[in-house]
Amino acid sequence: MNYVDRTLRSHKLFEKAKEYIPGGSAYAIRYFEPYPFYVSKTKGSKIWDVDGNEYVDFWLCHFGAIFGHCYKPVMAAVKEQLDFGAHLGWCNEWEVKWAEVVCKWFNAERVKPANSGTESNMYAIGLAKAFTGKHKVGKMEGGWHGGFNNLNRAVNYPYDKPAALNLPISDDLIPLPFNDLDGVIKRIGNEELACVIVEPVLGSAGFIPAEKEFLKGLREYCDRKNTLLIFDEVITGFKHPNGLQGYYGVKPDLTTMGKTVGGQYFAGAGGICGRADIMTLLDQTKRRNFWERSAHGGTFVGNALTMRAGYVTISELFKRKDEVYEHVNSLSSFAVRELNRAIEESKFEAYITGALSLFGLHFTKEKPVNGETAERTKDRELSRALFTFLLDKGVAYLTPNTPHFTVSFAHTQSDVERLVFGIEEFLANAKGINQ
Ligand SMILES: Cc1ncc(COP(=O)(O)O)c(C=O)c1O
Repeated sequence: MNYVDRTLRSHKLFEKAKEYIPGGSAYAIRYFEPYPFYVSKTKGSKIWDVDGNEYVDFWLCHFGAIFGHCYKPVMAAVKEQLDFGAHLGWCNEWEVKWAEVVCKWFNAERVKPANSGTESNMYAIGLAKAFTGKHKVGKMEGGWHGGFNNLNRAVNYPYDKPAALNLPISDDLIPLPFNDLDGVIKRIGNEELACVIVEPVLGSAGFIPAEKEFLKGLREYCDRKNTLLIFDEVITGFKHPNGLQGYYGVKPDLTTMGKTVGGQYFAGAGGICGRADIMTLLDQTKRRNFWERSAHGGTFVGNALTMRAGYVTISELFKRKDEVYEHVNSLSSFAVRELNRAIEESKFEAYITGALSLFGLHFTKEKPVNGETAERTKDRELSRALFTFLLDKGVAYLTPNTPHFTVSFAHTQSDVERLVFGIEEFLANAKGINQ
């Protein structure tokens, strides 16, 4: 059955949703044409929509669900916590346990929770400005750090347009070319930057990994210029022990976190960790006047439910890291190998990018190494056709324009084969579209 015939209830929900929600979807990124399915149940690697259709999920709560959906130890802890209160409104023991495991995970000296990845970045940028006394910020073209005005620029191609209707182009934010150190230095010119913020794997551009030399070069540049280096590890933080900073062996001054750090599912998933001499600008016991501190706060910050879910998730990762990373990385390597083979045999122009358990497929005429090269020759029609084709094969991911995927500990070889062989079948049948 095709999508429209088997998603009648989702269609009805979408029509109803449009009466109240602009665009019919809580978050525009989850919308796709002709209308999105609405999910009612998740477990492991699978999701089910309200019509009962099953999909293997490669989106996994915006790439956060490293253990898959409804991982039992986390669910059990959360159910117990609900009986004591989700948000206690006071300091609680879980924020302390959470802080300890997060600091250990990232080898960080101090940490503060935040309510989301967006908030984490907002506070981290504030900290960098307060610490350095400078106000300009460098960010990578194609990098998404959340809907926070001061970082919301050069996210979607073309990068010279304002990122949103409400945003004037701010001179304080300098878009920089990912994986191009000379280009970065040239763009910065004589400007003095408070910080450079970078994802070790460029997420929304389709999982394009940094070259190690690029991150090392940024580190050296920042040390030379008294500029803070911030790694946005909102997606990547738990894809490797110590985060991708551990994988690359490059230490930022501050790390921002989200998603998995709040236990994969729960609101309030975020945090900033890093050097004690910077984080001390958030210490109300040492800096008693509010004007001596950098901004941070939020009603839900450090709520017991999120802290406990995050603590249990990270503790489980500590306990099971060998088997978890061996599993997700080898499934992903299999996928990357097979996809490269399928592309080669199909004679399509396409590239696979990624690192560890994050990988992306790009219908481009050049190998994407940054936002610009991922976008300027992209065949969007082909990307969207693949998306529709795979939905009918029971495979779901986002976005239709930028196919990128992650796998969880709950994914099986056959889940991944469904994705890979689905793409292979598409490439065989779609022959001719962009050749
Ligand atoms: C790299 C990165 N940073 C920041 C954010 C914003 O996080 P949140 O959606 O939790 O505000 C996201 C969200 O997708 C992200 O991918």
